[in-house]
Amino acid sequence: MQRNATRIKWIGESCRLLKATASEFETTRPFHGLTIGTGIHLEPKTVALLMTLKAGGARLVCTGNLNSTQPSTVEFLRSEGIDVFATQTTDPVAHHKSLEAVIAEKPDLLLDNGGDLFAIAAEKPYANLLGGTEETTSGRTRLLPLRETLAMPILVINDSPIKQFAENRHAVGQSLFESYMRFTNRSTNGKRVTVFGYGACGKGTAACFRNAFAQVSVVDIDPVTALEAHLDGFNTPLREQAIRTADVLVTVTGFADIVTAADLPLVKDGAILMNGGHFPHEIDVAAFREHADVIGIDRYEADHIETFHLRDGRSFHVLGGGHMANLAGPRPLGNSVESMDLGFTLQARCLELVARRAVGAEACIVPVPKEIDAMVAGAYLDLAR
Ligand SMILES: NC(=O)c1ccc[n+]([C@@H]2O[C@H](COP(=O)([O-])OP(=O)(O)OC[C@H]3O[C@@H](n4cnc5c(N)ncnc54)[C@H](O)[C@@H]3O)[C@@H](O)[C@H]2O)c1
Repeated sequence: MQRNATRIKWIGESCRLLKATASEFETTRPFHGLTIGTGIHLEPKTVALLMTLKAGGARLVCTGNLNSTQPSTVEFLRSEGIDVFATQTTDPVAHHKSLEAVIAEKPDLLLDNGGDLFAIAAEKPYANLLGGTEETTSGRTRLLPLRETLAMPILVINDSPIKQFAENRHAVGQSLFESYMRFTNRSTNGKRVTVFGYGACGKGTAACFRNAFAQVSVVDIDPVTALEAHLDGFNTPLREQAIRTADVLVTVTGFADIVTAADLPLVKDGAILMNGGHFPHEIDVAAFREHADVIGIDRYEADHIETFHLRDGRSFHVLGGGHMANLAGPRPLGNSVESMDLGFTLQARCLELVARRAVGAEACIVPVPKEIDAMVAGAYLDLAR
């Protein structure tokens, strides 16, 4: 028998840890009688998490984040009887209405991404809110000043070492490498690749390009980190030299203006520039587009590549307009399923802890408890053996 299967099914089947957690939750029902409000990207990987929470007995009321809601995901969740208040929108006002609609349902637990839901709950408190989780560093920064008002357990997933090494170090490197291939269909063999930033993401990126037979240089403004890159066997030339020699240049620092129009005289003929940092401000593409030395731009619309032609005859290319390359361009897949499976299992286990009232207000905006890290790591290794 042949059946049509969807991407949601593929991702669900690939999240082995969440699948195992869901089948345990079907028996233990940690969320029985509780409503969980969620404000996290509505895309196939999150579906695997939401279905796990549902298996644990939760009633779910969901919305997404700005600009990332996938209509097919919303349709699927609704077909599963889940309440979804979300549309694909870039309008913050429309998005805020969806967030308000989730809070109006007075969920017992919140699964937040960026602090949107807890910020509203702090303004409009209600009695049955037990606490929940926050996915990101930016959410933690936003909620910290509200700690005394919130005074409930809120566990921050990003601060788990598992999230740091599984996603930032390993998954970002792999997906940026995949993005380079996906956008360009060009090889890396023998190419000179310069990676700006040797933090968690930069380490993985440098390693993935080196593993693909490129000659990798690293630039990091922190001399201690640059020394680490040197001892890891990467070239660590001065910044100017690193730009001059790069066939491929990748920024992953988290800071603005890493490569600017002032660097145009240095850029090698034919170089490819791409960004992996969160904001599209690391490579100043807007300034390139306006610069007097740029005499023409070819836009490969379908492939999201721009080729800049310079007055002196050189040209260079920018991928995805300088946006996070692994979430830009044709068929952007983001980070690997396994890295998200780990992060989302941390989510499920932390919510379980709060639902069981095993943590109190002392755990307001704190990292994932070590025993949960150990439990999730052990479970992943058991499946891998
Ligand atoms: N693409 C993705 O899927 C994805 C996933 C996770 C994180 N990120 C983003 O990637 C970025 C980096 O994250 P991280 O966890 O590696 O951060 P990190 O803080 O661990 O590392 C950043 C590194 O950049 C260096 N740096 C800062 N300014 C520099 C400069 N001018 N020149 C050279 N080096 C410089 C710092 O010294 C540091 O070593 C952030 O914007 C983060 O949000 C992207």
